Amino acid sequence: MIMNEAPLRIAVPSKGRLMERSIKLLEQSGLSFRLDGRRLFAQCRDTGALVILCHAQDIPRLVEIGLADLGITGGDLVLEKEADVVEHLKLGFGRCRLAVAAHIDSGIDGPGDLDGKIIGTKFVRLTKRYAEDRGLNGVEAVEIQGAVEVMVPLGLVDAIVDIVETGATLREHDLRVIDTILQSEALLIGAKSPRDPILRDRLIRRIDGI
Ligand code: PRP
Repeated sequence: MIMNEAPLRIAVPSKGRLMERSIKLLEQSGLSFRLDGRRLFAQCRDTGALVILCHAQDIPRLVEIGLADLGITGGDLVLEKEADVVEHLKLGFGRCRLAVAAHIDSGIDGPGDLDGKIIGTKFVRLTKRYAEDRGLNGVEAVEIQGAVEVMVPLGLVDAIVDIVETGATLREHDLRVIDTILQSEALLIGAKSPRDPILRDRLIRRIDGI
């Protein structure tokens, strides 16, 4: 089977803000592949490496367990998944911050107002760690898979922890940042024992040179 024979498997996001830039980066590095239609992988003509499209949030784990040798995903997701991977390169795109936001009229003006509040987020681990680090009491982190901004006006949660890039989504929902947890950007991550370390190192050098 093609997957088992490939010397290297490279996982890239299958949608969202990181997809286009990730694929372009691999093409610029000299890899020659074509992603057709609904197919979620492509084999590179020159090296035989496989480019595999996956959800960005699954990539840290796939790389950690070695099912992918390299992966491009957000640094925020690597931290959230607590993935034990090698960070090869910071890629300089997908820059954003993970922030706590609340409604402008909520009376939640800073981290000190979050005691006893319900926070909706995809980043449950990082939210819990943030609450602990800040010494907050009785904060409940509720997992929401997306469209988290609308959950505040809807009344499901008091605040959110989410990615902020331009701030436009927050503004549309009368939310504002009350604290920043971390800054993030796209990373090239790698497995500790890749299939073909020589090919992997060559590829990393090429990407680093772009
Ligand atoms: C992210 C994030 C916010 C939005 C922020 O969602 O969850 O909703 O982008 O960007 P802004 O500050 O420029 O408005 P994304 O579009 O990546 O989709 P997702 O819900 O699948 O994460």
